Amino acid sequence: MLTEEMNRLLTEVGPGTRMGDLLRRYWHPIAGVSEFDQRSTKPIRLFGENLVLFKTRDGRFGLIDRRCAHRGSDLSFGIVEDDGIRCSYHGWQYDLAGACTHRPFEETGDRRPGKPVQLAAYPVRAKAGMLWAYMGPQPAPELPDWETFNWPNCFAQVVIAEIPCNWLQCQENTVDPVHFEWMHNNAPKRRAGDPGPYSPKTLEMRVDDAEFGLISRRYREGTNESTPLWSIGRAILWPNGWYFGHHFEWKVPIDDVNTLFITWSVLHVPTECEPYVQPVIPTWHAPIRDENGEWIVSHVGNQDIVAWISQGPIADRTRETLSASDRGVVALRRRLIEDLDAVAAGSDPRGIIRDPARNVNLVLPCIARDELMNGLPRAQMLKHPVMGPFLHDYYSMAGQPDSVRLAFEQAMQVEQSSFDVHSFVPQ
Ligand SMILES: [Fe+2]
Repeated sequence: MLTEEMNRLLTEVGPGTRMGDLLRRYWHPIAGVSEFDQRSTKPIRLFGENLVLFKTRDGRFGLIDRRCAHRGSDLSFGIVEDDGIRCSYHGWQYDLAGACTHRPFEETGDRRPGKPVQLAAYPVRAKAGMLWAYMGPQPAPELPDWETFNWPNCFAQVVIAEIPCNWLQCQENTVDPVHFEWMHNNAPKRRAGDPGPYSPKTLEMRVDDAEFGLISRRYREGTNESTPLWSIGRAILWPNGWYFGHHFEWKVPIDDVNTLFITWSVLHVPTECEPYVQPVIPTWHAPIRDENGEWIVSHVGNQDIVAWISQGPIADRTRETLSASDRGVVALRRRLIEDLDAVAAGSDPRGIIRDPARNVNLVLPCIARDELMNGLPRAQMLKHPVMGPFLHDYYSMAGQPDSVRLAFEQAMQVEQSSFDVHSFVPQ
């Protein structure tokens, strides 16, 4: 149980907060590159700052304060130029570094140029079909080059949802393996009216430190320490990511009570379909409520989201009853507090990569890495416990557009059918 002060320290992420300053020291995915096939500006709010993300006419990306310094008009309604963005109100233009480079009326005739004008600006990079921002102090660390981003012959998709609650309760979910059997197996089973036995219980769990963050290990009834979920475990990427082999996810703070939930899913095409080069990594936005306004609980990710939101805008950790299954949650909080102290002492927090030579094709712990990376013939893939369910259906998040499903089916040369994810018990 935490004090109110400690809860605030861990959850407040706006400008000038200690946790906000800590989290800003990492690159965060904030959008899909393919979103900018249809548009050139996107309003975005990150760490309590209203910003505009834009793509210049020559294909570069910028992230600057959304409010024009002139009279406060919204730059997401602006127009892009070869090397910047122009406010649509009076044409003031800003470059990627946030400097105002043109004031058309003031440049006319022999008028004197005004004082230099500068907006907040943050570097943006494209990687793996996502746009990443760095909002911390310079020099920026490396943007991790995870090996999975470089696997050939794969179909990837970026899925984004806005979650109306604080980032930390979403991330605490990553170190909480007992929730799998309840939230993703037993509860949906009972909701569907199935009175059958509950799914195998978690028998043991452990969290270990790793260079990239933490490793979460567990095994369930019917298995033992030889299961890859114990011997290899799952990677918790510091400070707000998670990696499953076929899936990354990140929880990026919008502000104290809203979180950008970004997932990157990948599946190798059946070996019969090689070589395969994905023309574009699609990005789609996942709804979290259905047409009646009810929370969606049909898909694994949506089930998690509902649990996070139900904890309140900022989970009140002063009223918890922490227990044996929360040792991962406690470890996560302790390490975040250690990182706050490290930053206060002028050091890097954990998981920061500074050496570009080291940042090449970084391998993460991954169950079924060989199959996920190298693929399998379709018949074996369909029966594979990790790959099969995804080949049948995109079960992570509800609302996949038909165009993405179709592109996936064409890549895989399969016809997807609805897959009963509740009958699937990952060991
Ligand atoms: Fe979950």
